[in-house]
Amino acid sequence: MSDYYIGLMSGTSLDGADGVLVDFSSKKPQVLASATEPFSDSFRAELLALNSPTDNELHRAALAGNQLAAVYAKVVAALLARAAAQGISATQIQAIGAHGQTVRHQPQRTSSEAAGVGYTLQLNNPALLAELTGLNVVADFRSRDVAAGGQGAPLVPAFHQSVFGRPDAIVAVLNLGGISNLSVLSHEPSSFRSPISGFDCGPGNALIDAWCQQNTGQAFDAGGAWAATGQLLPVLLARLLQEPYFFKPPPKSTGRDLFSLAWLREKLASFGTERPEDIQNTLTELTAYACSADVLSYGKNSKELIVCGGGAFNQYLMERLQTRLPFLCVCPSDRYGLPPLQVEAAAFAWLARQMVRREPGNLPSVTGAANPRILGAFYPA
Ligand SMILES: Nc1ncnc2c1ncn2[C@@H]1O[C@H](COP(=O)(O)OP(=O)(O)O)[C@@H](O)[C@H]1O
Ligand SMILES: [Mg+2]
Repeated sequence: MSDYYIGLMSGTSLDGADGVLVDFSSKKPQVLASATEPFSDSFRAELLALNSPTDNELHRAALAGNQLAAVYAKVVAALLARAAAQGISATQIQAIGAHGQTVRHQPQRTSSEAAGVGYTLQLNNPALLAELTGLNVVADFRSRDVAAGGQGAPLVPAFHQSVFGRPDAIVAVLNLGGISNLSVLSHEPSSFRSPISGFDCGPGNALIDAWCQQNTGQAFDAGGAWAATGQLLPVLLARLLQEPYFFKPPPKSTGRDLFSLAWLREKLASFGTERPEDIQNTLTELTAYACSADVLSYGKNSKELIVCGGGAFNQYLMERLQTRLPFLCVCPSDRYGLPPLQVEAAAFAWLARQMVRREPGNLPSVTGAANPRILGAFYPA
């Protein structure tokens, strides 16, 4: 029987929306089609503005949700065209899992605020997406985990386990999106003694992209070529690594709320005359250092580090990770059957399927939620 789902992901890099059509009918999920739609410069700028308190933000956030639904619908149309070429019709697709665009992620505001819980906010308009596509839509995957006392993130480790897990070895998976997250997969995932672990390491591409954009006008440092022309600034690196987030034990998650250009400017305040390329080199090293330190602390028995997310295309960053982790193989995820930009999108297809089947999507060992929960809200076609 067909078991097709679409997953749509637009992450903290604000580069655009990635979509996949996945067939879950065999043991390992199969991606049948993929499509990407970049955000326009003006939409990216608006989303970036909405990541911080700004003027008339409720109205602007609602409009941004509508615009995102339109971008998502374009990705779905491209996927459906590719599906039709394989003899698959829209009516066979069970649901779309649509992540939305995170603009605030503060899962642990516990002081005197309402109900003593925090929140995570993904802009989206799943109702409009259901109208535009005529398909069932599942959205708002993170809120339930936060309501259950969890971080609401990362939600991908259970999917990582299903595609990259091995019965004979511990495997580490690093997603280099705007924020980086690590999954350490177990060879006995259901065992209490060795549960799957996962958490956000800190910045992935977010600071690398922001500094590159500000200094070169390019949205990202292709291949890490610009960073590679610079020299490491050890004093600055040490300063950046003092950020308390790096010392927190998991469960933990973060976002642009913390790792922003404003954060970087504050750290750079006492530095003045450094060359921009040296700062770029140091920001790339920050990502490599923070991620590799987490692998050493939580995944040191892994034989391989499977890297997904667009950061896998940053050759210089990949080299720095490999140099810092000489005892394991640092490899992009396509070597394991899923290209780097398809992994997170496929995870949201999987999460939509979990919701439709009324099965949990979170892992309490990862997010810190009280229990497994069914994640997401359903918008019928
Ligand atoms: N050729 C490349 N060289 C360097 N970095 C790249 C390249 N292609 C993509 N990237 C990086 O990947 C990011 C997008 O990765 P993605 O996995 O979509 O992140 P997110 O989930 O946060 O949107 C871009 O913003 C950029 O930083
Ligand atoms: Mg992206």
